[in-house]
Amino acid sequence: MKSQKKQNKFHFKPPRGEAISGEKVKLRDKKLSDVRNDFKWQSDPELARLDAAPVLIISFALFLLDYATELHGPRHDRYPLAVETVDGIHIGNCSCYDVDETKGEAQLGIMIGEREFWDKGYGADTVNTMVDHLFSTTGLQRLYLKTLDWNLRAQRCFQKCGFVPFGNLKRNSYTFVLMEMKRGQWEKIHNSEKSS
Ligand SMILES: CC(C)(COP(=O)(O)OP(=O)(O)OC[C@H]1O[C@@H](n2cnc3c(N)ncnc32)[C@H](O)[C@@H]1OP(=O)(O)O)[C@@H](O)C(=O)NCCC(=O)NCCS
Repeated sequence: MKSQKKQNKFHFKPPRGEAISGEKVKLRDKKLSDVRNDFKWQSDPELARLDAAPVLIISFALFLLDYATELHGPRHDRYPLAVETVDGIHIGNCSCYDVDETKGEAQLGIMIGEREFWDKGYGADTVNTMVDHLFSTTGLQRLYLKTLDWNLRAQRCFQKCGFVPFGNLKRNSYTFVLMEMKRGQWEKIHNSEKSS
């Protein structure tokens, strides 16, 4: 009964002061010293284009002010974490958002900002680590994500993790591919990994 109660309480945070560990990455709470990288990545036109996001045009001083404010009063509808290599290099960010505990679902987001870490499995390990953590510590039944229809790297990365396409979303001039993983699918992958 007690463990059932724990399963139903939503959280996406590492245990106090620790990180959620994968094979190649660690996911940890955001900290003020991440601000330089986040400013650099959000000001990068190619990253913005890949993410269908606007390029940041505010000054670093203003960005820092907003950043510090958000760190001190985090939002309760978005759970961002930093992605680090096991050696402690901050290479990107990931997040869980649009959490709907009634429907038992949430959306995931990921961005590896450091180009030299693309196509080396860091994205897939980040997604796998998020998925394992969420399905093993919450009662969520379904995780989904979206990416631009021409972002084949992202789609391949999510497909490797077991996500399957379930539709398209048109927003403004963009078309996104929607992909999902249900708890049952994760259990199958998880159980086959344990038995191999
Ligand atoms: C998308 C992203 C998260 C993927 O992370 P990653 O660490 O590069 O991904 P992985 O190495 O785990 O997997 C990438 C796969 O795509 C493949 N790939 C790369 N370019 C490709 C292309 N043009 N077409 C098809 N497959 C491609 C890689 O070969 C690899 O597959 P493999 O392991 O079977 O060889 C990361 O590259 C990223 O954040 N990019 C910049 C921002 C971005 O795209 N944002 C949108 C995210 S929704």
